[in-house]
Amino acid sequence: QTGKFTYDPGFMSTASCQSAITYIDGDKGELLYRGYPIEQLAVNADFLETCYLLLNGELPNKAEKEKFVSTVTRHTMVHEQMNFFFRGFRRDAHPMSVLVGTVGALASFYHDSLDINDPAQREISAIRLIAKLPTLVAMAYKYSVGQPFVYPRNDLSYSANFMHMMFSNPCEEYKVNDVLVRALDRILILHADHEQNASTSTVRLAGSSGANPFACIAAGIACLWGPAHGGANEAALNMLKEIGTPDKIPEFIAKVKDKNSGVKLMGFGHRVYKNFDPRAKLMRETCHEVLNELGLQNDPLFKLAMELEKIALEDDYFVSRKLYPNVDFYSGIVQSALGIPVSLFTGIFAMARTIGWIAQWNEMIADPEQKIGRPRQLYVGAARRDVPTIDKR
Ligand code: SDX
Repeated sequence: QTGKFTYDPGFMSTASCQSAITYIDGDKGELLYRGYPIEQLAVNADFLETCYLLLNGELPNKAEKEKFVSTVTRHTMVHEQMNFFFRGFRRDAHPMSVLVGTVGALASFYHDSLDINDPAQREISAIRLIAKLPTLVAMAYKYSVGQPFVYPRNDLSYSANFMHMMFSNPCEEYKVNDVLVRALDRILILHADHEQNASTSTVRLAGSSGANPFACIAAGIACLWGPAHGGANEAALNMLKEIGTPDKIPEFIAKVKDKNSGVKLMGFGHRVYKNFDPRAKLMRETCHEVLNELGLQNDPLFKLAMELEKIALEDDYFVSRKLYPNVDFYSGIVQSALGIPVSLFTGIFAMARTIGWIAQWNEMIADPEQKIGRPRQLYVGAARRDVPTIDKR
C-alpha cells in the first residue's frame, strides 16, 4: 500500500535511529528518561535536574546540580543586539514565528568559532539554548503586548525566572508563587523529550548535515508549531472554548465522528500511546493543584474538559481507535491558569523540548558512525517517458 508501509529492517531509512535517551512503551503507557519513570521525575526532580539527566545520562548530585544551575543561570541573558531582531516583527506576529526567527538568529552569534566535534563546545551550545529559550519566549510575549523586555535575574530558579521575565514590568515586580512555579517546572519536565517525535526527527535530520545546532533547533521549533504536534495544546483549548458548555459536547462529538468534517478531538490520540499518555495523568493532577491554589476549582473550562474526557472514554468511537487524552489535553488549561496566553502555549512546549532536541542532537553528533540523513522514498510516479516538443503537447 502506498503511504503506509510496514517498516522493513532492510529498508534503509533515517526514520529509524538508535538512542539511549528516552523510552516509550505505547501499550503500557510508559515513558522513561534515561531509565527513570516520568511519574517519579515529576515528583523527585526539577526541570534543570532533568535537563542534566537527559544531556549527561545520570541525575546530578548536589554539587553537580549547583554547578549546572549556576552555569545555566549565567547564560540566560541574550546578546543586546537580539533586541533588534524583535523590532522587525509585527506586534501581532505568532510567537512561534518569532521564535523560529530569533532562535535561528542565535546561530549568527555562535557560529564561526563553534566546532561541533568538540564535546565541550557541544555542551556550551546546549547550555546556551537551555538558558536562552525562556528569555526569548518571554521577550516574544513582552513584544506582543508592547511592554519593555525584562532582564533575567540570577537569584531566581529557572521557572521562577521565566515567570519574572513574563509578568514583571518596570512598575511592578512579579511575586513568585512557589505552587505556580512548581507547576510550570513540572510542565517543562513532562514536555522535555519524547523519543523520535516529528520535531526531534527534524532536528536530527537537520543536524546530520553538520548544520549549526542553533539553526537545527529553529527547524525543530518550526515543526513543533504544527497543530498535529506541538500546536495541539493551543488547538485543544480553542476547541474547549468553541464547545463552550457541557450540553454542547454531544453535538461536537457528532461532528468529530463525521469524517467529512475534518474535526479532530484535539488533545486526544497519539502516534505511539495506544493507551493513556502517562503525561496526561500528571498534567491533570497539576491542573487540579494550580486551580486549587488559585481558587479556580470551578473553572468552567476544566470542568468541561473533564466532562469531555469522561464522555470520550466511554464512547466506542474513541475507545475502538485507542484514542486517549495526550499531554496536550490539559496543558492548555494549566497554562491559562498560570496567566500564559494561548498563543504562547506552543512556545512553552518549545522551551521544554529544547533539552530533548539538543540532547538527541548531541548524542547523534557524538556518534562516530553517524552519517547524513537520507530518508528513502517509495516512488509511485510515472514510468520513464520521452519529452514531446511544445508543438506536440
Ligand atoms: C504530540 O510523537 C510524539 O511523541 C508527539 C508528542 C511529543 O511529545 O512530541 O507526544 C506531542 O504531538 C501529541 C499529539 C498532539 N496532537 C493532537 O492532539 C492532535 C489530535 N490528534 C490527532 O491528530 C492524532 O491522534 C495524531 C496525529 C496525534 C496521531 O494520529 P495517528 O496515531 O497517526 O492515528 P491516525 O491519524 O492514523 O488515526 C487513527 C484513527 C483515524 O480514524 P480512522 O481513519 O481509523 O477512521 O483515529 C482517528 C483518525 O481519523 N483519530 C482521531 C483523532 N486522532 C486520530 N479522531 C478524532 N480525534 C482525534 N484526535
